[in-house]
Amino acid sequence: MTTIQLEKINVTRNEHHILHDITCQFPSGTITALIGPSGAGKTTLLKLLNGLHSPTSGEIYFNDTPISNMDMLNLRRHAGMALQSAPMLPGTVFDNLNLPRAIAGDTLTEDEAVGLLTQVDLEDVPLTQDIKSLSGGQRQRLSIARTLVNQPRVLLLDEITSSLDPRSVKEVEKLIHSIHESQQVTIIWITHDVDQAVRATDRYIMLKDGRVEHTGDSKTLLHSQISAVREFIEGEEQ
Ligand SMILES: Nc1ncnc2c1ncn2[C@@H]1O[C@H](COP(=O)(O)OP(=O)(O)OP(=O)(O)O)[C@@H](O)[C@H]1O
Ligand SMILES: [Mg+2]
Repeated sequence: MTTIQLEKINVTRNEHHILHDITCQFPSGTITALIGPSGAGKTTLLKLLNGLHSPTSGEIYFNDTPISNMDMLNLRRHAGMALQSAPMLPGTVFDNLNLPRAIAGDTLTEDEAVGLLTQVDLEDVPLTQDIKSLSGGQRQRLSIARTLVNQPRVLLLDEITSSLDPRSVKEVEKLIHSIHESQQVTIIWITHDVDQAVRATDRYIMLKDGRVEHTGDSKTLLHSQISAVREFIEGEEQ
């Protein structure tokens, strides 16, 4: 179980101050929605948590360990990330699922690969199937299976359902919940879909202009009286 703590995180890129003094916590085993307008800094914050970006100042702790002291490979294994575009290499389902192992100079056994596909309800898809023939929903589930290869304790999800049809959206939400239940992971989930945040997450952190604007229980989102939260929700509903 991993509690994530950010202490006074600042990120500046090309003289652009993207994140300002972010102090917040993601308690072990919770699902947090990271919400806020486009350009608020959500993806930047998520990328700090698996070492794709480094803060300009401040420190991030996984439990009590500063991640700046962690080996990069170890950090990437600890915190798996899935993206909206579910990027895939040309090749087969197996080639793509095996990628994290291939990077480590190893390979998945067929049993391990089938086990991972089963976890994401893709057990009917042959390992030899060409990646190009998967539907958008299947591709996203494969992308999630790939993040599970290293048995992460933290799952970082960046708008993973925003290009899916409503049925696939619900399937992916169900899948994330079953992973959460079976593997005790701490989940941070960027979404522009307020209803999804209410349905699928425990709590929210709202960023605006690179600052934490508000945090609370996700169930309170739709009826929030906080003006910045209302503004965001009404903007997203248009
Ligand atoms: N390498 C960079 N150099 C300069 N500015 C950057 C860089 N990367 C991101 N930014 C800026 O940082 C801000 C935050 O970007 P970020 O992608 O984190 O926002 P976001 O909240 O994820 O937005 P969206 O909802 O559109 O995905 C934006 O203004 C963006 O233009
Ligand atoms: Mg983003």
